[in-house]
Amino acid sequence: MIAELIAWWRLDCLPAAQRLGYRREAAALTVRHRRLRAHWADHVAHTRSALLAAARAACVGDTPPKHAWIMGAGLLHDVPLEALLALFEHIDLVDVAFSPAARAAARAHPGRVTCVMLDVTGVLDDRTRDLTQAAPEPPPGAWVASVNILSQLPLLPCTALLDTGMPEADVERYGQALQQAHVALLNRAGHACLIIEYAQTQATGPDEALLPALPEKLAGLGWTKHAEWHWPLNPAGETREPEGRSMQAWMR
Ligand SMILES: C[S@@+](CC[C@H](N)C(=O)[O-])C[C@H]1O[C@@H](n2cnc3c(N)ncnc32)[C@H](O)[C@@H]1O
Repeated sequence: MIAELIAWWRLDCLPAAQRLGYRREAAALTVRHRRLRAHWADHVAHTRSALLAAARAACVGDTPPKHAWIMGAGLLHDVPLEALLALFEHIDLVDVAFSPAARAAARAHPGRVTCVMLDVTGVLDDRTRDLTQAAPEPPPGAWVASVNILSQLPLLPCTALLDTGMPEADVERYGQALQQAHVALLNRAGHACLIIEYAQTQATGPDEALLPALPEKLAGLGWTKHAEWHWPLNPAGETREPEGRSMQAWMR
């Protein structure tokens, strides 16, 4: 509890996001990341190498991108920043919350690494906006990455909508539309990488797909799945039953 309070105090957060609970969530994730470091080490290593593989693939060719725009990078847990700096002239870490590590990285690489405090859905301060128009445009020509945020995007906005009394089916549709808008944003980039929690895994029982139709859709849009791994999100002792996530990395 105290550890979360200290982590919360050390984070910078966009006010609209803080009102919805993002600063609290980011503080909780910071503390869990520290406490479960050994259990999550493989997952973090897989995420880093999937990002790097996608970035290297994007940089092959006559006009490689010079700019990387990485969404969900505000805690800097799983972004191979030094290796990416060898590929790109400028790297934007895009998030609604930033840790001291991300701010220190920006200070250590002035003019090359920037913390961009931005809501990538465009609806956190106004959930009535047209979701297809609300998301920001990625910078022209940039390599754009989404690091394990697709499943997170609907959670707090949908909780706020449920609190207003919106029917559950409508909230469900809103959450799916928010995720579709995020994939559309990535699709507008010249080169992109998308890392997703595809399914929930359990020690007993079958996996439950969290994004069932997405792989087919991505393949149809010309994306390639280039890595898969398992993340023991809640190892034994964390929850009543251990459970994890089946992860996938896609690029185009
Ligand atoms: C589950 S974490 C992803 C894991 C993360 N890459 C790490 O370092 O641990 C989700 C991240 O997405 C960010 N995020 C969630 N919704 C966002 C939004 N609408 N705009 C920008 N960032 C968002 C959160 O602040 C958080 O840092």
